[in-house]
Amino acid sequence: MSRLKDQVVFITGGGSGLGLAIVERFVSEGARVGVLERSADKTARLIEGFPDAVVAVTGDVRSYEDNERAVNATLERFGKLDVFIGNAGIWDHGASLLGTSPKRLDAGYSEIFDVNVKGYLLGARAAAPALVQSQGAIIFTLSNSAFYPGGGGPIYTATKHAAVGLVRQLAYELAPKVRVNAVAPSGMASDLRGPVALGQENARIMDSRSPESIRAILPLQFFPSPEDFVGPYVMLASRADNRTLSGVMINADCGLGIRGIRYVAGGLDL
Ligand SMILES: NC(=O)c1ccc[n+]([C@@H]2O[C@H](COP(=O)([O-])OP(=O)(O)OC[C@H]3O[C@@H](n4cnc5c(N)ncnc54)[C@H](O)[C@@H]3O)[C@@H](O)[C@H]2O)c1
Repeated sequence: MSRLKDQVVFITGGGSGLGLAIVERFVSEGARVGVLERSADKTARLIEGFPDAVVAVTGDVRSYEDNERAVNATLERFGKLDVFIGNAGIWDHGASLLGTSPKRLDAGYSEIFDVNVKGYLLGARAAAPALVQSQGAIIFTLSNSAFYPGGGGPIYTATKHAAVGLVRQLAYELAPKVRVNAVAPSGMASDLRGPVALGQENARIMDSRSPESIRAILPLQFFPSPEDFVGPYVMLASRADNRTLSGVMINADCGLGIRGIRYVAGGLDL
């Protein structure tokens, strides 16, 4: 497979889950990848697993300096940048408005917005000059929570809606040089955690959900793995396969948007 041969990609949160699946697939498609990842252990595993194709930097997406350091490390190692993928994120484990104290709501808002929204903004700012030069692409990871309620609490849902605004505004500002798009996955098993401010830093998404509970709500009726979401990223990153899309959000949500008002299990027996 060589759909991304000689393309250079910078991704945040590439150490596990969806980000790691993207790194693995992009490398297998011929790309070389720079990663900014908060976990030093995950960074070390990336360096060990991909000594030639990946440059991984430990740092925090909330820091512009860390984003810039990772972009510079990618440029120094691979000579150019074609794609930025904003992907690092945290969840709120569905912390609801009335179920969360005002103090925690305040602090949780700041932490989750900083990672999920400011992280994308600062990553794009650090990568954009090189992307303008290469006439490349930006791709953001959204969520079903960018479109529908119930996939998280109000804070997480609002961060993913905010990222839709980033896609549209950056697609507008960076045209005609850079295509800016997004992929919005549904639930999957990953290391996705919550914020320190809500006491959720050690809680993983699958601690509170089962594969069966996710499968049951999805019209396509299977429990997707991180690898199942990667195809749209390859397509959006590819110069050959995407000359025309910018400002587009791909709902890779196993059909959540067409559930309608009838519970799918009571639907047609196909
Ligand atoms: N897991 C799901 O069900 C699901 C569903 C829809 C969307 N998403 C989105 O997918 C994206 C990837 O999440 P995932 O599910 O693969 O979880 P994950 O935790 O496995 O991967 C996220 C990675 O980002 C890193 N990270 C977190 N905060 C960071 C920070 N401040 N700076 C740098 N790195 C940081 C983590 O260490 C981790 O390696 C997120 O944007 C998430 O919102 C996940």
